[in-house]
Formats: sequence, structure tokens, C-alpha cells
Amino acid sequence: MKVGVFDSGIGGLTVVKSLLEHQLFEEIIYYGDTARVPYGIKDKNTIIRYGLEAVEFFKNFELDLIIVACNTVSAYALNEMREISSCPIYGVVEAGAMAASNTLEDKNANILVLGTKATIKSKAYELRLHSLGFKNLQTKATGLFVPIVEEEIYDGPILQSTFTHYFKEITSPDAVILGCTHFPLISDALQNYFGEDTKLIHSGEAIVEYLENEFTFKEKFDNPKMKFFASENPDALKALAKKWLDS
Ligand code: DGL
Repeated sequence: MKVGVFDSGIGGLTVVKSLLEHQLFEEIIYYGDTARVPYGIKDKNTIIRYGLEAVEFFKNFELDLIIVACNTVSAYALNEMREISSCPIYGVVEAGAMAASNTLEDKNANILVLGTKATIKSKAYELRLHSLGFKNLQTKATGLFVPIVEEEIYDGPILQSTFTHYFKEITSPDAVILGCTHFPLISDALQNYFGEDTKLIHSGEAIVEYLENEFTFKEKFDNPKMKFFASENPDALKALAKKWLDS
């Protein structure tokens, strides 16, 4: 199967990493809208418009499916994107909520959802988690993590002080949904902060689990063809892809 992976920028490479680890696809086409990132501070109509443009871009390839790795786009634009797409589109919000539900036996579990301002404002995770029976939810927009990760800061005093800033009123969660492509890169620091008993839900792992339930993957592809596209500075994206995906 040939898959398109869309993100607002580089963060969706964390989802590609999971796809590669599970060897699901024969060919991966990645498109990052690096010219217009971040999406997480934009309004609904802009996010939908950008999502529709990504579907148009992917029409240049004969894809079997599209994965929207970006939580912000998954929260706002999936229905509109599906209307104009000739292949199925899967988002990470639905997958993340399902993954949380599969991991947590107790419906009273305390779940903390982290995301961009737009993702948290959309209440997309809350709606799905509520419909899965979870009511004990906390949400927090933690947009500063995005530029921190882009600076390749994965721990240390700057990150720790943002944890203190954002989490001072958070009561210890049983699970944390990393509802943004960038957050898996600081998962070690988050795990240390919240402690080993807190489960972290990663969009990449969640979408793999979700797709494995939807499709029968008969073959494994240990060396898929990959193409990387970006709306600005594709060389920088390719260099980062090499660094992140090879490590
Ligand atoms: N990719 C976005 C997300 O997962 C984070 C970066 C942005 O704000 O565009 O929500």
C-alpha cells in the first residue's frame, strides 16, 4: 500500500517513524507545510483550507490512503478533506482516543490531553473520550513545546520550566495523550515528570494500532520507498527526516 502522510511541518515525522518501525507500507509520501507552520494558533477555516490544499497535493500520487499526522488538522478538517479525496483519510485524534481507551481499563481514569491551542479549543479529544465513557478529563494547550522541540531541546531547564508553568494545576494523570506531533520527542522528559505509572499515548503508535484493526497487512516492508515534500525549504525537511528516522 502507498500512503500519504500530511503534517503542518516536520513533526509528522514522528508518525512516519512509527509507520517505519511497524513496516506497514511499501511507499510513503510525506508532505509538510513548512511554509505555513504552525497551524496550532490558526483559526478553523484556515486549518480546513490548508487541509483541503494538502488533499489536492496528494492527488498527484496514486495513494491508497492518507494519514493526517497533524492533530490540529485531524481535529478540524477531516470531514471536509474526506469529501474531496478519492482515497480514505485517517486522522490521529480518533486513533489517539481509541488507544487511550484500549490502554485504560478503568473508565474513571484521569486522562490529560495536551495539544496546540487550536486542538484543545476544538474539544475533539474530549468529545471522543466522552463517547468512549471517559469523563475524568483534563486538557491543556501547551503550544510552547512546539518551538522548543523545533530547537531540538528535548530536556533541561527551559523545558522543565515550561512543565512547571503548564502543569502547576494538573492533578496526577493516569494517562497523557500527546495530542501534537512534536510531543513524542519530549516523551522521556514528560514520563520523568509525571512518573512511570502514567501512560503516554503517542499519535504514531496510536494510528498504527488503529490501522492494524482496519486493514489486514499481509506483508512487511522493511525498506519502503520514501519521498519527502515541503512547501518551504524541502532540503531542511529531508535532512531532519534522515536524522530522526535513522536514529
Ligand atoms: N502538527 C501540529 C499538531 O500536531 C503541531 C504544530 C503546529 O502547530 O502546526 O497539532
